[in-house]
Amino acid sequence: MNNKVLIVDDDPGIRETISQMIEGLGYAPETASDGFDALSMLESGPYFCVFTDIMMPKMTGLELIKRIKAREISLPIIVITGYASLEIAIDAMKCGASDFIAKPFKVSQIQLLLNKVKREKLLIEENRKYSDTIELHRLIDNLAGQLDDKNREITSLQAISERIISLRGIRDLVSAIIDVSKQLLEDVDVQFFPLNRKTLKLMNPSGGEDRLISSELLEGKIVRRDTASENSHRRFETIFPLIIEGQVFGTLDVHSNTMLGEEKEHKILYLLNRSAERMENVALYEGLYENMLSTLNSMAKILDARDPHTSQHSTRVTNFSLAMGNILKLTEDEKDVLYIAASLHDIGKVGIPDSILLKNGRLTDDEFRVIKRHPDIGADILKPLPPMVRETDIIRYHHERYDGKGYPSGIGGQEIPLLSRIITLADSYDAMTSDRPYRDGLSVDKAIEEILRCTGSQFDPELAEIFIRNVIKP
Ligand SMILES: [Fe+2]
Repeated sequence: MNNKVLIVDDDPGIRETISQMIEGLGYAPETASDGFDALSMLESGPYFCVFTDIMMPKMTGLELIKRIKAREISLPIIVITGYASLEIAIDAMKCGASDFIAKPFKVSQIQLLLNKVKREKLLIEENRKYSDTIELHRLIDNLAGQLDDKNREITSLQAISERIISLRGIRDLVSAIIDVSKQLLEDVDVQFFPLNRKTLKLMNPSGGEDRLISSELLEGKIVRRDTASENSHRRFETIFPLIIEGQVFGTLDVHSNTMLGEEKEHKILYLLNRSAERMENVALYEGLYENMLSTLNSMAKILDARDPHTSQHSTRVTNFSLAMGNILKLTEDEKDVLYIAASLHDIGKVGIPDSILLKNGRLTDDEFRVIKRHPDIGADILKPLPPMVRETDIIRYHHERYDGKGYPSGIGGQEIPLLSRIITLADSYDAMTSDRPYRDGLSVDKAIEEILRCTGSQFDPELAEIFIRNVIKP
């Protein structure tokens, strides 16, 4: 992997500081003092990633990001920013920046960012094998179970791919490998032995003795044995190592009456390779997803920190929403979406100026119009992130009303997504019962009265009843 990192900043001090840190981490820093310089240096590519400032003469950082992305969409760009310009950092992420780093810089932060870029690059490389477009959503589709055309051609192996591509965990993986091997090779016995990496022993799942793995298997080679002299009703044993991320994860032992031969061995190898790829993808994808979530969560925390009166609000709304999710017996998948959407429901407030968000007292009509933009801003922040597709709409509609008089879209009734209707209740109840600088919070009984009064106008009547009966007064 190439290790050139381009640092774009008009401040020579910052260029120098970041260069030194990056060099210390084993990368080769190069610097540019403005956007035009940066673009001409990128001609001589390829670069591992770009760090850019936003406020620069000649060309702004946002303009530079757009121009780079127009030419090379997969080049990761990290924005250098101060805490005060969080809004700008978010604008930059909307233009395609992968992440941002705030002053003062720490080496450990830069290292985390570079590691993240490295993982994302691998993910994109992986995606490139399947398709010419580098869009991340194609990869997610692949993970969700789409087969690439190349595999369709290999019809005899299609069943393997379908089975493997839908796998999630390691336990599924092992049982699928055994099932598929039995289907591929008739009349064989198949067993899988996981490797204990500490003792280098293969663990016997049926309770027999663990045995030390051979050096050939550890090197990734297939071992073939004639077991005629042993107490086995099958004559041959073929042992395949399953290698995930360069390490032997276990072995697949196939006992057969005749030698397997090249073709059958090839099929098993294909099966094991596909399984390993799948597991690596799951791991990478989960890493990426977690990274993204932690970025969003830190944004939510920054938001809470801005307004001391609403800190912990997101957490309480999430807890109330999940309680509803459990009562309504939502699927695990729906509860995951609800969890993320509720935690981030007000994320769009990062785009609302302090003078309005933190104002003590009544808002003017104009100020209220600005506040009303936050569901759309929140949805726009999540929109470019492919795994957040479902959360996007839930957040967009969390201030709609059952009678259609809410914002931003004015949809009503069942047209409002169920999860948004749940968050509306949780959000309103928490707002009613929390103290504000200009008023005390309502008592629980008063809040129930208020919810009942607004049932059918603001709230979904059925959900409101369940919320009062099971969440507020269980
Ligand atoms: Fe909100």
